[in-house]
Amino acid sequence: MHEIDSSRIESKAALQLLMSPQEAAEFISSGDNVGMSGFTGSGHPKAVPTAIVDRVSEATARGEHFRLGVWTGASTAPELDGALAAVDGIDLRMPYQSDPVSRAKINAGQLDYMDLHLSHVAQMVWEGFFGHLDVALVEVAGITADDELIPSSSVGNNKTWIDMADRVILEVNSWQPRELEGMHDIYYGTALPPNRKPIQITHPGDRIGVPYFHCPREKIIAVVETNAPDRNTDFKPVDETSKLIAGHVLDFLSHEVRRGRLPATLLPLQSGVGNVANAVLAGLDEGPFRPLTAYTEVIQDGMLQMLRSGTLSSISATAFSLSAAAAKDFGDNITDYRDRIVLRPQEISNHPEVIRRLGCLTMNGMIEADIYGNVNSTHVMGSSIQNGIGGSGDFARNAYIAMFLSPSTAHHGTISCLVPMVSHVDHTEHDVHVIITEQGVADLRGLPPRRRAQKIIDNCAHPDFRAALQDYFDRAMSGQSGKHTPHLLDEALSWHVRYMHQGTMRPV
Ligand code: COA
Repeated sequence: MHEIDSSRIESKAALQLLMSPQEAAEFISSGDNVGMSGFTGSGHPKAVPTAIVDRVSEATARGEHFRLGVWTGASTAPELDGALAAVDGIDLRMPYQSDPVSRAKINAGQLDYMDLHLSHVAQMVWEGFFGHLDVALVEVAGITADDELIPSSSVGNNKTWIDMADRVILEVNSWQPRELEGMHDIYYGTALPPNRKPIQITHPGDRIGVPYFHCPREKIIAVVETNAPDRNTDFKPVDETSKLIAGHVLDFLSHEVRRGRLPATLLPLQSGVGNVANAVLAGLDEGPFRPLTAYTEVIQDGMLQMLRSGTLSSISATAFSLSAAAAKDFGDNITDYRDRIVLRPQEISNHPEVIRRLGCLTMNGMIEADIYGNVNSTHVMGSSIQNGIGGSGDFARNAYIAMFLSPSTAHHGTISCLVPMVSHVDHTEHDVHVIITEQGVADLRGLPPRRRAQKIIDNCAHPDFRAALQDYFDRAMSGQSGKHTPHLLDEALSWHVRYMHQGTMRPV
């Protein structure tokens, strides 16, 4: 921990509630549901979870269980998700994780996990599907003299947690820039049907809410000071495969502009995170289209660079996900960035109505796609969860153009990411417009199933697997019935096993 900046707490009432993380953790009981801040490794609580882990370990040593429902915005960090999972301190986890320890526990059947569209979480909690929310444990960047809470580097579901929880514990993290104040747009107008009103966002930079979370003073039971960094989301150098995919994305977008289907300033971008996404953003930064905008979930290094260069004029998101170097750059130059960034609750950053109205161009990764265009984003071999659907469904289902990007093979070329039938479906063929691998682009719009299949095999499959996929498709076509979406069910369902040879999926 770095040095605490106590000037972050201006509220006299909040100063009265200052205590250690250990004392704050005493307010949490086994069986509680705890709504924690945190989204893609930013804005999660940094100190109280560690104290909870100690409580779990002490309970285990006494032969007792201490388990919590852990609800967040999305993924957090090893000291939260990983550490709590390692001591079996989580009963049910939702709505997204990407931690290797919790993934192993989930896939071993030792931790219940509910993976859901990120825009649906708040509504599901309002409706009570996950039970009662006992505690909100939320990182903030400061507390004003008027008891307003300055949100941190992610907003996620924090508004909902603060509204719904009986008790609120705040971590005030002075590592977060003080100048975050004013960057957020917290919308308090959401309601359940039939009382819903239109979400009045017609441009990514529009503001429709207030810069603070409101929390009744009497709900706050503890305030803890921290000075600790967000998760360092490493920025890996862009590899050759990602560069090829990025090149195809740019060619595709140029083609759409030439055809008059997109303006030269494109439409608001949404991009997942990771190597491929960074390569695409780097390509767009060097490309001819500008000024661009983004209506997305996460601001990663690539988007920050595009703001710096002027390629992007404004970004709406719910969180940052930055490498240590980019986080430093952001902190050092925050006054240059702040007017062009809006951070919103995730039910608004991922809102179907807004995504559809703005006409977002969405780019997400995938585990595999099948020859008809169904996409699996979440499960390996149909059974083991990797991360979760995250916001990919919110965006793809409502996109103007929904693109899915992936290398054509995984595990050093031993597994084909194009298969006859996906082993798990997250995005159906109806929601998938374009598939892009390093081999090329399959634009599926306007194509019925058999034409889609041929295009995906020809344009996207790796040459090592193309003949096997073609053979499958030809034999399915020559069958006696079911020519609309031809399948050989026994083979389709066993493809993953059939091509598994000495631990690989190379054709045998
Ligand atoms: N079969 C088996 N394993 C596969 C696979 C396949 N077809 N494709 C990928 N994998 C494995 C990789 O080998 C890797 O495993 P490892 O961690 O053990 O090395 C892992 O899946 C991640 O793949 P990687 O190549 O590193 O891709 P990525 O970082 O781009 O992640 C997803 C791809 C699909 C896992 C990721 O995009 C994701 O979680 N998507 C869902 C959420 C989402 O889209 N959010 C965006 C909205 S902001």
